[in-house]
Amino acid sequence: MAFFIPEDKIAEIKSRSDIVEFISEFVLLKNAGKNYVGLCPFHSEKTPSFTVSPDRQIFYCFGCGAGGNLISFLMKKDRISFPEAARILAKKYGVKIPEKRISGEAKKRISEIEGLKSINRLAMDFYSHVLFNTKAGEKGLYYLEKRGFNRKTLKNFNIGFAPHGWSNLLNFLRKKNISDSLAQKAGLIVPKKNGGGFYDRFRNRIIFPIFDNNSAVTGFGGRVLDDSLPKYLNSPETILYNKSRSLYGLNMAKEKCRKTGTVYIVEGYLDLLSLYQNGIDNSVATLGTSLTADHLQLLKAYAEKIVLVYDSDEAGIKAAHRCIELFWKKHINFKAGDTSFNKEKNVDTRILVLPRGHDPASYLSEFGLYSFLDHAKKAQGVIPFIISSAVNKHGLSTEGKIKIVSDVRSSIAAVNDYVARGLYIKELAEIAGINEAVIHESIKEAMPDMQRTGTFKKEKGADRENRLEEKIISMMLQFSDIIPEIKKKNIISYFRDEKFKAIGDLIIENFAVIHGNVAGIISLTDDKLIRNTVASLAIVDEAWEYNGCMKLLQQFETNKTRSNNTLLNKIKAAEKESDYELLLGLLKQKQNQAEKKIAANNLDFAGG
Ligand code: CTP
Ligand code: MN
Repeated sequence: MAFFIPEDKIAEIKSRSDIVEFISEFVLLKNAGKNYVGLCPFHSEKTPSFTVSPDRQIFYCFGCGAGGNLISFLMKKDRISFPEAARILAKKYGVKIPEKRISGEAKKRISEIEGLKSINRLAMDFYSHVLFNTKAGEKGLYYLEKRGFNRKTLKNFNIGFAPHGWSNLLNFLRKKNISDSLAQKAGLIVPKKNGGGFYDRFRNRIIFPIFDNNSAVTGFGGRVLDDSLPKYLNSPETILYNKSRSLYGLNMAKEKCRKTGTVYIVEGYLDLLSLYQNGIDNSVATLGTSLTADHLQLLKAYAEKIVLVYDSDEAGIKAAHRCIELFWKKHINFKAGDTSFNKEKNVDTRILVLPRGHDPASYLSEFGLYSFLDHAKKAQGVIPFIISSAVNKHGLSTEGKIKIVSDVRSSIAAVNDYVARGLYIKELAEIAGINEAVIHESIKEAMPDMQRTGTFKKEKGADRENRLEEKIISMMLQFSDIIPEIKKKNIISYFRDEKFKAIGDLIIENFAVIHGNVAGIISLTDDKLIRNTVASLAIVDEAWEYNGCMKLLQQFETNKTRSNNTLLNKIKAAEKESDYELLLGLLKQKQNQAEKKIAANNLDFAGG
């Protein structure tokens, strides 16, 4: 059936998916330098010639010549058409595709979008020409150079200048046979209030073209050269430009983000340019708005670590709370124990607040790259940042401590990873010198509130245990140093989830052979569920360190004794460990209990 899939939806699928991740569900891919290789699923071979490039998001088989992108892979594998494959992937990656066939209206919309893109490109070229090649642009160039930007940076971002006057662009576009109404739809010209006609939206301003992921020009920002207001003027929202979905600089940054796994997020155009010029070209700007779920979704395709850069504590704290809200929303539909590739990757998010009075641009020009990177290295995670901000604000007097706990408890309560929450509570207890149990109580109090407002869903006991087991397996896969400890403590024998138990045993049994080699573990089993689970847990790179890991194990053991300490579990464990002496004793105990129960029942019976 000839269903039409809009181009922007295809782009969205591409931005949300990762070909290596996807193909790994079907082909055992091994890392080989920049690429991944495996046995080709499309022809029979014994040595791998099937190659997947994470950088380019393509595959190619040097044996049979099959190649393409994610969608073509699925088409070929399942012998389905392009729209069918696109639909399957859209569903998998949560991209909504309208259900109807292409209508006349849709066609019109598509051609309108294409039209706006090309008008924007014309305008961009016009502004850029003015900046670099005309007398009218000289003051713009002077301003930008004074602020430290070189030609190369400005050219790479297609920076331009809108000249003084009411109809420079208008006349230019008319000469190019662009209709006024289309130019208006692009937000480039504005209708005059009284009488007919239009005038240029951007006048006497430095122009920053805004690109989408695929380098189409979606809108513009314009900055004045002096202190007049508004400092920035932006394109209105159009069918192309949506502020909460745009990240300035992403088109330039995405490859580097993929390579480094990290993205820096700043607020302003010039902050971004300045990071770029200093070589931190894995950066994007949110253009003054706060981070949105769409931004995060977009970035997750490229990076697993986010460093949010702010110029004041207040802005940083606001952003940290925003992150909690966002991550939390993401988890509403998260089922514990779900280890499919669809599972949201956990993004390691750091908050970097620059010394008072500095934004990234001014900081870099005053203190330089290395000092900036030094700050970045020390940037804290969201919750630790909220905790230390509260400590700084209130101090460690008794009153201060009370305020600290009341400031941070709802944030910690919102962390729905049971393990992480426990660790944060421990951290808070240590920093503020408060008894951990007291904090636990206080946080528990904060929870029902959130449940009522629908912002928190408590995990069931079993789910919670499952998450903990999953976490421990992730840790084993990503941080093999901890494996001997797990073996010593016999942790895996207490696992309840069969799948996690099987993986844990597999890792421990083959530790000497595979060490940290996850691909090696995957190749040890034919069970697809286990392979997928292993790959999906290993693909997420968390920052493990020894002490944190030990805390996690400690937590598991506490949990275990708290909830698993029934006689039956003890019996199971004794069986597992072939501790026959213990087993015998436990069985006797059990028999005793059973006899008592029967006697009690008889008594009831007799008495009733
Ligand atoms: N912004 C905006 N409209 C405004 C003010 C700000 O859209 N009236 C957005 C711009 O994207 C701007 C960002 O918010 O880049 C950050 O604002 P601000 O910190 O005031 O400006 P800077 O980018 O730091 O610019 P400069 O360094 O030139 O002052
Ligand atoms: Mn600034």
